[in-house]
Amino acid sequence: MAAVSELTADREVVRKYLDAVDLPAPLDEATAEDYRERIKRLLVEKNATIVAHYYTDGMLQDLADETGGFVGDSLEMARFGSETAADILVVVGVRFMGETAKILSPDKKVLMPTLDANCSLDIACPIERFSEFCDQHPDRTVVVYANTSAAVKARSDWVVTSSIGLDVVEHLADRGEKILWAPDKHLGSYIQQKTGADMLLWDGACIVHEEFRFRGLQDMRKLYPHAAVLAHPESPQPVLELADFVGSTSQMIKAAQEMPHDTFIVATDKGIFHRMRQLVPDTTFIAAPTVGTGATCRSCAHCPWMAMNSLPRLHDALRDESQEIVVDRELGVRAMVPLQRMLDFARDQQLSTRGSA
Ligand code: 13P
Ligand code: SF4
Repeated sequence: MAAVSELTADREVVRKYLDAVDLPAPLDEATAEDYRERIKRLLVEKNATIVAHYYTDGMLQDLADETGGFVGDSLEMARFGSETAADILVVVGVRFMGETAKILSPDKKVLMPTLDANCSLDIACPIERFSEFCDQHPDRTVVVYANTSAAVKARSDWVVTSSIGLDVVEHLADRGEKILWAPDKHLGSYIQQKTGADMLLWDGACIVHEEFRFRGLQDMRKLYPHAAVLAHPESPQPVLELADFVGSTSQMIKAAQEMPHDTFIVATDKGIFHRMRQLVPDTTFIAAPTVGTGATCRSCAHCPWMAMNSLPRLHDALRDESQEIVVDRELGVRAMVPLQRMLDFARDQQLSTRGSA
């Protein structure tokens, strides 16, 4: 039976972080090209590689591709970072992704275009309260989403991402284990509903996915009756119930390639359209409706922290070797255990691309 913990996400704190978001100015093509060339030279000089997420600016994703770096979902980013021979990883995404890379590769230098790129799930799951929550339920296996701090990971038994959470929880439930899940309540209740596992949920949410609306999506389905709906499992349950496919960002991209539809309504950050359009160019992708529209919408299906990444910030961080992720050695050793458990599980089960309808 799922139960939502009495601990509520600290929305005020999230709001404070949101107010501090400093979005980069747009670049003209000549300036962008100049930055690209300079970054390419620095990458070679410093034996550095870019690991980027699908929600970031398309120019950054293309640069990662062109320079032998990587673009992927959180699980794939973690795996690539731990396997590459580069001395410096430039993680283009949000802070928990940089920390994950550092934990898995403590001897590499891990930089980010900006260390201020945060995540509402990470912010609203502070280690002190989380630790108390765990202490209150010592009989439960602690499973945390990758969108958390190094300290929260270090307090867990398992770390999972959206591409593998369902399989890990199913595996634990089959062994008769009861789960304490944090921080995303929507992903947690989706997994609970799919697996029937006994899960106690932390009350956190992604500010981007939480804004997708059931009623708006229902109306949109009527407008595009031939379209399929792809949704990320951080979306609220009523939205997921309308979806034809639910999965991680990579799994959604794969679904767009494999499903026969020529139109998709997509409930996740619209940065993902860049890769979808590259891979299935003759297909129409429409952003699922959010709270409000245009100037009145809040996230507008785009993560403000992912949007903080830019070519100039990446260039400066790499040139100066600044914006470096630092994780305390001893904490990193503890956090590596549940992370490595996830990577080993993924390797053993070869599940990296599975999703579910
Ligand atoms: P993925 O692991 O599916 O890429 O998700 C990361 C994320 O932060 C989604 O909001
Ligand atoms: Fe975090 Fe949501 Fe942004 Fe993903 S989209 S990084 S879950 S705030």
